[in-house]
Amino acid sequence: MIDTFQPSARPIVAVTGASRGIGHAIVKRFHEEGWDVLTLARTPFSTVCPWAEGIVRHVETDLSDEGSIQRAAGTIRDRLADRGLDALVHNAGVSPKATDGGRLGAMDTDADTFRHVQMVNTVAPLILTRALLDPLTLAGGSIVTVSSIAASQVHPFAGAAYAVSKAGLSALTRELAHELGPRGVRVNAVSPGEIGTSILSPGTDAMVARDVPMRRLGDPREVADVVLFLASRGASYVNGAEIPINGGQHLA
Ligand SMILES: NC(=O)c1ccc[n+]([C@@H]2O[C@H](COP(=O)([O-])OP(=O)(O)OC[C@H]3O[C@@H](n4cnc5c(N)ncnc54)[C@H](OP(=O)(O)O)[C@@H]3O)[C@@H](O)[C@H]2O)c1
Repeated sequence: MIDTFQPSARPIVAVTGASRGIGHAIVKRFHEEGWDVLTLARTPFSTVCPWAEGIVRHVETDLSDEGSIQRAAGTIRDRLADRGLDALVHNAGVSPKATDGGRLGAMDTDADTFRHVQMVNTVAPLILTRALLDPLTLAGGSIVTVSSIAASQVHPFAGAAYAVSKAGLSALTRELAHELGPRGVRVNAVSPGEIGTSILSPGTDAMVARDVPMRRLGDPREVADVVLFLASRGASYVNGAEIPINGGQHLA
């Protein structure tokens, strides 16, 4: 039996990479604001999420595998039935490190690792967007991608494959904003700097003290607030924007 959404005024959001970090903060923030939330990640639904229906609205998905993405999209379309999808947040991401935890430069990155990072961070958002375009169009919905400061400048810890994938994601955001605007679907990006999650590398604290004008890490909730704004009516004429969330780190 499929758990379909009942007709209601509650908007619906689907969030990738919802199991921890920034994605987990995003699903909590949308839920607090009264949205129905569909979550996607490889791992089972996190028991620290406080709402009962969350477990049945979680779709286990491996974004490195196109078949898994297509199955997840099919499950989401079944659950939506004739409802539209009000927002899709492409948050999931991978950032491989060298074996000693250090930065993985271009010359140290094998082709399989490079391809894997592009698939999860850049190609999967394209595949999922294509597969969910009809319900997004039906709702007049919006898409938010989670890029990175590493998309636009060489970063001391984020590796080359990651930087290329996020530059691609930022470009994909612009392309989609241009292409989907006429269908009434807005597409925007956020571009976080150093946010306190498990993706950070050793040495980040010293870098933040030196390079971030606000002299502190960001909190995942501070990213979630901006993602929620971009998906909300308050941003109804914002399309093709990329908002840095980094305490001023990009000014250096
Ligand atoms: N933290 C920062 O400072 C920072 C800065 C700039 C940009 N970002 C971006 O923000 C986003 C979230 O980062 P985070 O710091 O919250 O990272 P995180 O704590 O490592 O979480 C990454 C999320 O991506 C999911 N994921 C990874 N590989 C996946 C796959 N193959 N299939 C499905 N899901 C997958 C993980 O879920 P499972 O492991 O359960 O599958 C997890 O929920 C990423 O796109 C990252 O690049 C983060």
